[in-house]
Formats: sequence, C-alpha cells, structure tokens
Amino acid sequence: MEQEKQIKIVEVSPRDGLQNEKEILPPEKKKELIESLCETGVDEIEVGSFVSPKAVPQMKDTDNLLLMINKKNGVKFSVLIPNMKGFERMMNIPESKRPEKIAVFTAASDTFNLKNINATVEDSFKIIKPVIEEAKKLKFEVRAYISTAFWCPFEGKVKPEKVIYVAEKLFELGVDEVSVGDTIGRASPKDVSELLSLLLKKISRDKIALHFHNTYGMAVLNSFISFRDFGIRTFDSSAGGLGGCPFAPGASGNVATEDLIFMFENSGVKTGVDFKKVMSAVLKLEIPLRSSLSKIQKIIE
Ligand code: HMG
Ligand code: MG
Repeated sequence: MEQEKQIKIVEVSPRDGLQNEKEILPPEKKKELIESLCETGVDEIEVGSFVSPKAVPQMKDTDNLLLMINKKNGVKFSVLIPNMKGFERMMNIPESKRPEKIAVFTAASDTFNLKNINATVEDSFKIIKPVIEEAKKLKFEVRAYISTAFWCPFEGKVKPEKVIYVAEKLFELGVDEVSVGDTIGRASPKDVSELLSLLLKKISRDKIALHFHNTYGMAVLNSFISFRDFGIRTFDSSAGGLGGCPFAPGASGNVATEDLIFMFENSGVKTGVDFKKVMSAVLKLEIPLRSSLSKIQKIIE
C-alpha cells in the first residue's frame, strides 16, 4: 500500500509565480503549465487571480484560462479574489469550469495592504466579508492569506500579536484556512518559531498553511521547522521558485516546489509529489528557474 502523504502542497506558480513576470504569457502556455502540474502529485493549484487587470495585467485572462484547462487527477483548483467584483467575474464562468476554492487576502501591516489593495487591514475585512459569505453560501472552500506576517517592506518587523488578531478575525468571518505569508522572504527560523508558538495556542495547526518566499534563502529551512517543530502540514510553493508580489519591493520568488519536495522526501517525509515532473512542467515556460535544484546539472538519486 502506498505510504500516506504527510504534507499537502499548494502549488501557486500559475498565480504568485507568474503575477510578477513582465512578459504576458499566452493562456495556452499557462494551460500547459497547469495541466502538467496536475500530473506531479500536488494537491492544489492556485490557477490565477481575479484582481484588477490594471494592477496585475498578467492575470487578466484567468476567466479564459479556466475555460481552457482540462482538470486532471482530482487536483483542487483555487483562485485569488480581492473583492465582490472579482467574485462576480469568477461566478460568470460556467459552473463546471469554476474552481472549488477561493482565496481572499489581507495583511498584517497597513502600509503594505494600502499599496497592495488600496485598503487598510480593518477596511479589508469589510471588503472581503461579503465575498466570504457568498462563497460559503455557494459551498466554495475559502482560504485567506495574511501577507507581511513576519516582516513588512515598509514597516519592518511585524508583531505576532497583530498576525494573531488578523487570523482570528478571518476565522470569525468564516474562512476555512489561513495561509501565513512571508511576503518579502525575510523571516528567519527564529521569527517563524516565535510566531507559530503563539499562533498555535489560538488556532489549530490543521487550519494553518505557510507561504514562504525565498529572498534570504530561508524558505526551505523555515518550512522544515514549521513541520518538525510545529506540525504544520500545508505548504504553498511555486515550481521553479518563480514568484513575488509586484507591490512588495525587494521580494523574490516563492519557495521552489522542487526544493521543498527534495528536502522533505530526503528527510523521510512523504509528499506524494515528483519533483522532476515539477521541474519539467515549469521548464516548458522558458522562464529562467530560481530553484536550487535547477542549478544542479546531475541530481544524485
Ligand atoms: P481600487 O482602485 O481601490 O478599486 O483597487 P476600486 O474598487 O476603486 O476600482 C477601481 C477600478 O478597478 C474600477 O474600474 C473597478 O471596476 C476595477 P474603472 O471604473 O476605473 O474602470 N476593479 C476591478 N476590475 C477587475 N477585477 C476586480 C476589480 N476590482 C476593481 N476584482 C483592487 C482595489 C483590490 C481591485 C486593486 O488594488 C487590485 O486589484 N489589487 C491587486 C493586488 C494584487 O493582485 N496583488 C498580488 C496578489 S497578493 C500577493 O501576492 C501576496 C500573497 O502571495 C501572499 C504573500 O506572499 O504574502 C497572496
Ligand atoms: Mg506570495
């Protein structure tokens, strides 16, 4: 019998990975990426976002893309939604092509949130409340992101108390899961331990995902610590280490899915994901990869 997976991977390359790429990719390329990612063993794929096309032009064709993709292997799809307008755009897609899950987003720092979505953290709760209510009524699963959960590019170190406040508020609003984001990839293992040891006193670890970016090369280590020391089992990652938020200066790519899988599998943690298939899926985009594994010519089995 196949050993049970110990880790759930939420593959965010089609959204977080591509949103920062200047060159707009044709939907056919994105379709190819997503369909190939469906073959890798990842549990979920965030396929795109319904944000303002003026803010993030790369994501303007998410509706078309969803119509084109042939979903495979029971992989769950999600999309990032900022407001009711985004939710309505998603609902215009025929039901059979809609994702099962949506993700709303806010942050733990006002300055970043204002740059990202033109709203303070408190105002963002008012904006996403109806989205969460509608989505739950229609039986969508709902994730919420908390950006700048460790460091803000404008305000510096963010206090864990603020993150806990935002997380509790999001669960009160009805979300199923919160993804805690190191938006600028600045968190150290100490920052991660400090936040998780406080956050998990209030919220079950099964409702928390971690979303690391890799600016300072800490993302794989932070993921390992979150799993080993705190029992976190859901991790967001991006094939090839692509990614970044256009509104967070200095932020680089997400933790690379292949690096994360290589680390977990070689530490005896079952992921169910084939890292070589992940790499070949993203290589087809012909965008330079940023993962550690992509720099190795021959991988020792
Ligand atoms: P705003 O300007 O305050 O919005 O932007 P508004 O409601 O005043 O509307 C202004 C215009 O945008 C109007 O059009 C609206 O119709 C339109 P106009 O009348 O000028 O022609 N509009 C929309 N169009 C399409 N879809 C929509 C939509 N909403 C309004 N949904 C808004 C507010 C949130 C829309 C904007 O700031 C925005 O789209 N921001 C997106 C930011 C973004 O995508 N950031 C990256 C994702 S977050 C991230 O990467 C972090 C994460 O990975 C976790 C981590 O790493 O920390 C998740
Ligand atoms: Mg991100």
